[in-house]
Amino acid sequence: MLSYQHAYHAGNPADLHKHLVLAEMLTLLTRKARGISYLETHAGRGLYDLDSSESRKTAEAAEGINAISLPDCPLRTAVLATRARYGDAAYPGSPLIARTLLREQDRLHLMELHPAEHKALKRTLKSATTAVHHRDGYEGVLALSPPTPRKGLVLVDPSYEVKTEYAQVAAFTMKLLAKWPQACVMIWYPILPANRHNDLISGLKINHLRHEVGFTLKGGVGMTGSGLLLVNAPYGAENCLTRAQALGQPVLQMG
Ligand SMILES: C[S@@+](CC[C@H](N)C(=O)[O-])C[C@H]1O[C@@H](n2cnc3c(N)ncnc32)[C@H](O)[C@@H]1O
Repeated sequence: MLSYQHAYHAGNPADLHKHLVLAEMLTLLTRKARGISYLETHAGRGLYDLDSSESRKTAEAAEGINAISLPDCPLRTAVLATRARYGDAAYPGSPLIARTLLREQDRLHLMELHPAEHKALKRTLKSATTAVHHRDGYEGVLALSPPTPRKGLVLVDPSYEVKTEYAQVAAFTMKLLAKWPQACVMIWYPILPANRHNDLISGLKINHLRHEVGFTLKGGVGMTGSGLLLVNAPYGAENCLTRAQALGQPVLQMG
């Protein structure tokens, strides 16, 4: 099922939570000169226009990126670089945030199944260091793991259109870690009244960090917060999570 389109939600508080932490994790993982691998199961189009009809229809960015002024932090670097290149209404998706913060020695592998999203992603991101795949993200990342360089991060950011996807993400992560035990895995999930994310957490049978923020979206469809799970988080991650929480005030609060 591919009816979800991220253009309606880009830059909302949940996106900001995920992107703040992602940018912090990539900064921690690139403290040493040796290259890293960055893989995404669900990449989206990589670049969003907050003036688009989709974005204006939900006005979710007005409660996220357009409601706060980001202090000096890795996400701010990526947002400013995106605006400088694509205009003031541009907002980077996770692949473009990663591309902006990563270096020549790093390698990106991005999976996107929706044909139009994949095409847009390829146009914006494909380069000598960035492979853009039109394939199922779970299958693709497992097939490419373990990658070279061996140190790296996998972002798992599905749209959870089907209820069973929470358990699927947990099962995928356990398979991934069996193939690539040292992978840092970052999983995003929505907090909804049905609390289906409990299926994800209970299926993740390995130590992890969990970070949640609570919020209400004015025109929201029931999402009351955003959650992140981090397996094999880099040294210093806990401090960054605290910082991410403080950065987002008052939009982001502890869930
Ligand atoms: C939440 S969006 C990704 C947002 C992006 N990670 C970001 O933060 O900018 C989820 C994306 O996954 C894509 N998608 C859905 N099922 C997929 C699958 N099985 N494999 C790869 N991509 C998929 C959707 O088309 C959508 O673009």
